[in-house]
Amino acid sequence: MFFMRRIQLQLKKSVDDSYDIVVEKGILRRLGSDLRMKRYAESYVVITDSKVGRLYASKLVDQLKREKLFLGKIVVPAGESSKSLEQLKDVLDQMVKMGANRETGVIALGGGVVGDLGGFAAASFMRGVPYIQIPTTLLAMVDSSVGGKVGVDLPSGKNLVGAFWQPKKVYIDPELLSTLSQKQWKAGLGEAVKYGAIKDRSLWEYFEQHVKVWNKDPKSFLPGDYMVIEEMIERCVQIKADVVMKDEREGNLRQILNYGHTFGHVIELMSDFKVLHGEVVASGMRIAAELANRLRFLSDAELKKHNDLLDVLNIGKAKTQGLIKEFVQHMRKDKKAKGTLRVVLVDRIGRCHQELGNYGMRVDEKLIAEVLKEGKWVNDLTSDGARVRMKDSSLTSSPVSSISWGNTYQSPSESSPDVETDLQRRLREMRERAEERRRMGGSGG
Ligand SMILES: NC(=O)c1ccc[n+]([C@@H]2O[C@H](COP(=O)([O-])OP(=O)(O)OC[C@H]3O[C@@H](n4cnc5c(N)ncnc54)[C@H](O)[C@@H]3O)[C@@H](O)[C@H]2O)c1
Ligand SMILES: [Zn+2]
Repeated sequence: MFFMRRIQLQLKKSVDDSYDIVVEKGILRRLGSDLRMKRYAESYVVITDSKVGRLYASKLVDQLKREKLFLGKIVVPAGESSKSLEQLKDVLDQMVKMGANRETGVIALGGGVVGDLGGFAAASFMRGVPYIQIPTTLLAMVDSSVGGKVGVDLPSGKNLVGAFWQPKKVYIDPELLSTLSQKQWKAGLGEAVKYGAIKDRSLWEYFEQHVKVWNKDPKSFLPGDYMVIEEMIERCVQIKADVVMKDEREGNLRQILNYGHTFGHVIELMSDFKVLHGEVVASGMRIAAELANRLRFLSDAELKKHNDLLDVLNIGKAKTQGLIKEFVQHMRKDKKAKGTLRVVLVDRIGRCHQELGNYGMRVDEKLIAEVLKEGKWVNDLTSDGARVRMKDSSLTSSPVSSISWGNTYQSPSESSPDVETDLQRRLREMRERAEERRRMGGSGG
């Protein structure tokens, strides 16, 4: 006779991860006393990148020193290649050497790269320490600093290692935008207008009303412009917060934040990451709107309103070289369902389309291929310049690519350990280029 001895570990938890996001011009110069009063941590390690560090780290460090809250500063090279396990290890090692402990907090001062890396360092250091986000790009202000997704890339895909780890507070200082390049600013706007499209028509119209501000070079922002920008950021963040509060783990609703992304990610990938993320998201929005129009749930007038704003902002123009067939294969990796792909579409500016309560719409691959072809989103040339005829793009029978994007899970059986995928190769080349630049005496940590 065998008896099974069963011990149950009851771990039902109710945690309160609530936090404030403050939007205030000049707050970077004033947040020291707030950190002292709130006592999220006994001391702080500031993580920043080489570019942002030069511009803003001393403002923050001086205050922390004044409040006796400073433990150390870690500078990583600017750019996506810092979102790696190697860089994470280096950051964690440096934290140990500085004498960081469970009472130490992390402050991520930078764009999405520093936010994701610093947030993941906080989530993993001694099984989790508090962290604060000070986003410095528009993209990080309206998107990556809010919602608690943190992590790093693997050679086989972006954001494949990570956690949900909510910050204790997010300080957004729009004044920091003044040093952004116009390209970075415009890319951030791509991500920002997305919120209007998916959830708030009046926000979309706010963008339409203030085109003059959005079209300025950040260096020339005037005090009045900041008022407009502050309100825009607040409204975008409120939408992201509302969505995340209802669906933190992306069960259904949170998918709407991926509007434009399913297509955008592929353009980003096929253009070797030479185009900024927000720019390809805007391209992806145009493709999605065209599709919705073809499916007859986005009217011609709404399609025009959608594309007119992107036109006046001059965003969403990124197209890519390569084959339509290849494009669709990349899209398929985690969205497959016999000949159909799932994408988020809008049926009106300000409202996402739902199919039986689900925001991921099933769309026929052939229709997607048609839209890509007609909009010339992919040049559909082989590497030797030969044009591929539509009937050659046997869309449903091509092998599924083993590329993973976003926080999607790629099952080990889908990837071959011996064959380097396109994305693996491109990420490796990116890393090698960054490594080369570092060796040549470029920016370093
Ligand atoms: N966690 C999330 O929910 C989430 C959401 C969206 C994107 N992301 C991630 O965010 C990353 C992209 O973020 P990003 O676009 O901010 O890129 P980034 O952090 O690389 O910043 C872009 C460039 O701008 C520079 N920079 C930053 N702030 C500046 C300032 N105020 N003045 C001058 N230069 C400045 C940086 O040094 C860098 O060279 C990606 O890795 C992406 O995966 C995460
Ligand atoms: Zn995005």
